[in-house]
Formats: sequence, C-alpha cells, structure tokens
Amino acid sequence: MIEILPSILASDFTRLGEQIEQVESAGATMLHLDVMDGHFVPNLTIGPPVVASIRKFTRMTLDVHLMIEDPDFFAGIFIQSGADCVSVHQEVCRNLDRTLRHIRSEGARAGVVLNPATPVSTLSEVLDVFDYVLVMSVNPGFGGQEFIPRSLEKLSQLRSLRSQHGLEFDIEIDGGVTRDNSGKIAAAGANWLVAGTSVFGAADPGAAYQELKQAAESALRPLA
Ligand code: DX5
Ligand code: ZN
Repeated sequence: MIEILPSILASDFTRLGEQIEQVESAGATMLHLDVMDGHFVPNLTIGPPVVASIRKFTRMTLDVHLMIEDPDFFAGIFIQSGADCVSVHQEVCRNLDRTLRHIRSEGARAGVVLNPATPVSTLSEVLDVFDYVLVMSVNPGFGGQEFIPRSLEKLSQLRSLRSQHGLEFDIEIDGGVTRDNSGKIAAAGANWLVAGTSVFGAADPGAAYQELKQAAESALRPLA
C-alpha cells in the first residue's frame, strides 16, 4: 500500500490550514512535518506548539521527522503534542536502540533516518526496534533539492533485509520525489513517499497528491 506524505515545509505557512485541507480532502492520510534545529541542519522550522495546532486541525497521521541534535529530549514532547510517528537520525543517536525503544514506549511509531552518506548496514543490530526507516534522498535541511539516484539501491537493500528477517517495517523516502521518479521509487521498495515541492509547489496540491499516488501505484501493478 503506497502512501504519499505531503511535507508542509513547501506549503504557504500563511495558509497552512487551507493547504492541509486540500490534501486531506484529496485522500491523503499521512502528513510529514519537518523539525529542524539550526544545528544538525542549517535551517530552522517548527516546534511542538505548531504540531499541537495541526493535531487539533486534522485527523491525518502526523509523521514528525526530527532533524535535531537532541532527539532524546524532544521526542516525548512531540509525541505529547500529537505526533503519531517520530523519526530520528542515525547520525545523532549515540544510543539508537534506547532512543527507538523510548519512542515506542511513549506510544508512537519509531522511525530511523539515514542520511545519503549513511549505509543501511548501520541498522543491522536494531532491525526489530524500529517501525519504519526513512531514506534521505537529498541532504537534509531544505526542500526543492534534486533526488540522489543512489538512494534507490538503499530501498532495495532494506526490502531484502526485511524479507530475510521476516520483519514488517515500512520504508519511507524523503527528498526530490516527483511524478517522474515516484514509479521507480515505489518499484525499488519504498511504500511511504514524502513529497514537499511536488505537492505544495503545485497550483492544485490535492490534484498533485493524487497524480503522485497514481504514478507510484501504477509502477507496482502487473502488466495486463
Ligand atoms: C528536507 C526535508 C523534506 C522536504 C522534502 O530536509 O526532510 O521532508 O520537505 O522536500 P522536497 O519534496 O521538496 O524535496
Ligand atoms: Zn522530512
């Protein structure tokens, strides 16, 4: 089952509610929220009060991507603010196993994120401690960057690992997802596709969401 997760980073923040409604009424069930602290990445975005406001406004599943230096301190706060899924970067977690278990114990789904330079092999000892892996297909910090093609190989590696170990984690991709590459991405193994610019940068975000979903799903349909 393919999910397209609109990323509000590319939205018009003066019309955030309206834009969330556009994608939700077009069928989106998950929303991607990028949290940046100006340290782990050279940008600043939203904090817990914004997540709490969005929580009151929509029924969508809130997927919070923490691009911050101290996820151990903040993960629980974001969960209390309404996050359903929380992902942390492998690169900042000195005690990744503990951090992932903590997120689960607070009642959210735990995700681990891999930067473009981080190999899948870094997850070999925590495979059963996360609910999803997020493969960064751009360097984190900004929307509107170009998709790094090598990320497709990581998706296939994760899919193989999942079946070898009989696990059920979801595979998410984030950065540079477009209607043109979403089929290849889905065929390589991702089932959650984050899309910022290609949804909220479009004149009609609801239609853009639906087109992306169709493009990804049609790559998985067997040829008639
Ligand atoms: C980038 C963020 C992404 C961003 C993707 O660091 O993690 O979620 O919103 O934006 P696009 O889809 O424009 O590449
Ligand atoms: Zn993100």
